[in-house]
Amino acid sequence: MHEISTHPVPEAYRDNTLLTDQQYQQMYRASIDTPEQFWAEQAEKFLTWKQPWSKVVEEDFNQGHVAWFVDGKINVSENCIDRHLPERANDIAVIWEGDDPKNSKKITYQQLHDEVCQLANGLKARGVKKGDRVCIYMPMIVESAYAMLACARIGAIHSVVFGGFSPDALKDRIENAECSVLITADEGVRGGKAVPLKVNADIAARQCPSLHTVVTVRHTGAAVDMSSDIDIYYHDLCGEQSSICPAESMDAEDPLFILYTSGSTGKPKGVLHTTAGYLLGAAISHKYIFDYRPGEIYWCTADVGWITGHSYIIYGPLANGATTLMFEGVPTYPDASRCWQVIDKHQVNIFYTAPTALRALMAQGDSFLANSSRQSLRLLGTVGEPINPEAWEWYHQEVGQGRCPIVDTWWQTETGSVLISPLPGATPLKPGSATRPFFGANPVLLDAEGNELEGAVAGNLAFKGSWPSQIRSVYGDHQRCIDTYYSIYPGYYTTGDGARRDEDGYYWITGRVDDVLNVSGHRMGTAEIESALVLQDAVAEAAVVGYPHDVKGQGIYCYVTLMTGYEWSEQLMLELRSAVGLEIGAIARPDIIQYAPGLPKTRSGKIMRRILRKIAADELDTLGDTSTLADPGVVNELIENRVVAN
Ligand code: PRX
Repeated sequence: MHEISTHPVPEAYRDNTLLTDQQYQQMYRASIDTPEQFWAEQAEKFLTWKQPWSKVVEEDFNQGHVAWFVDGKINVSENCIDRHLPERANDIAVIWEGDDPKNSKKITYQQLHDEVCQLANGLKARGVKKGDRVCIYMPMIVESAYAMLACARIGAIHSVVFGGFSPDALKDRIENAECSVLITADEGVRGGKAVPLKVNADIAARQCPSLHTVVTVRHTGAAVDMSSDIDIYYHDLCGEQSSICPAESMDAEDPLFILYTSGSTGKPKGVLHTTAGYLLGAAISHKYIFDYRPGEIYWCTADVGWITGHSYIIYGPLANGATTLMFEGVPTYPDASRCWQVIDKHQVNIFYTAPTALRALMAQGDSFLANSSRQSLRLLGTVGEPINPEAWEWYHQEVGQGRCPIVDTWWQTETGSVLISPLPGATPLKPGSATRPFFGANPVLLDAEGNELEGAVAGNLAFKGSWPSQIRSVYGDHQRCIDTYYSIYPGYYTTGDGARRDEDGYYWITGRVDDVLNVSGHRMGTAEIESALVLQDAVAEAAVVGYPHDVKGQGIYCYVTLMTGYEWSEQLMLELRSAVGLEIGAIARPDIIQYAPGLPKTRSGKIMRRILRKIAADELDTLGDTSTLADPGVVNELIENRVVAN
């Protein structure tokens, strides 16, 4: 174990930062004590409105009701593009770096405007109107940014589905949101390998009668089936269209997008975000947490299929007129120096990535850092999971040469933007801690009964009061929104995370307290993986838990019982593993599947996951009480046959 040392704000930031500690303290207090005034000021400062609001905020957590800037009119695409044109039409909005290091391009704000308008007009020509749902299943290419912004421009609600998801997962999401259009590409490319997006899209589309149009970007040029009536190439859709498209006047509370995320039960939920509050949260956090200065090059390595890609590749940076880098590839291709090469090539100043990527790169050794200078870097960030102090120190010392602060940003799909994070010029850093709350975030730690705990203590992380980019609903099932986030501890927004607060008021996220896994920074419901397993003929019952994994943070450990007539074998194990990958997507492929003659259950038939987690983690001495099990004997069998990882 590393000893955790505090890193003071670097000299270079002390008198050259957007916010000093004192300014942070003042603004933070104002955001909590007088939120209406604070957010009205920020909404004026960060956003350009078509019509002012009549009321800053409405909130009723018991009903899961949140509304910001009521009656205000605004358009997100205009805020991310048009309003920058008078001053920076020729500035670079997006730098695209291909999977192949030979491919890159730069898109100015003017080009972004023209491309987005053409696509918006193309979508309108196909009958897409305000409120319609458009699914985006794309690789990391500039057209995915155009697609999101084109939807925002005409008031269509986008639902981006990560390009690594399977046809089935795509189908479920299209169906749930009743999308009328799907935008995809012939293929994606990652690490030199093609991803057959159009093939997957076709399998899904055949089962989705709500779709009237499938738009395909010709990216690799691979031959794809375009024979269906609903097929059209992107360049055919946009080619003849005007590069002027008036931006729809949207209500502040009109939906902007749906993004599916896993919970502890059932199918993924469509988290619904609306227009003005979301954009304000993304913009203000991007500016202050990344201390963004005009002209700087900012790179977030996420995929647009996740919330991080939405808020911190597209909406936050573009709202601030920044230059945002979009990377198609993976950090280890052609080799583990790729990120550092890209940083030098494009002179990246701010770099934001996930701890899992850092652990993977760290494991490859420091020699991959040797052929890059990384002198342009000024600030580093992490997101998605707790960062272990070893990886933090490596990031800080080796990648950032001891010069760059690290912002460890805690947030969720549902929070829309970062709620807990250091500010580089204000916050002394402690490796592994997301440190202090951002503006408008009022974190509390609750005990099991929902009592607020004071002082240095651990508990369930929840938030009091609303913030502008908060989830508005679960698409098509508002009750599920209430049940998931507001019913467990009435009066609070519940995160599902556990956290500890230290004597300095810093927050340390300890991980999920529910049946949700965090695998390589991706959120995954154990229930989804279990359903994928029991769909297989051989499987009678499945129980899935997480276990500590050196690179992924958590690995996926499955216990399965078999139907009569099936025998356990290595072959069957491999088949089940790939079946889950096919059912959900490669990110859900189990690391370990153990045959279980029986599962530990209470007398009422509930699987005792606590015990399964302990066995998976090989923590047998803290197994706890097994006497309440219906058949305590199964535990010994599971222990004997356990697979010890790492
Ligand atoms: O458990 C927390 C973890 O990721 C969860 C949210 O996942 P998702 O909605 O997919 O969004 C990921 C990107 C924002 C949280 O409930 N998490 C996220 N950031 C951190 C984190 N855990 C610890 N430290 C973080 N910085």
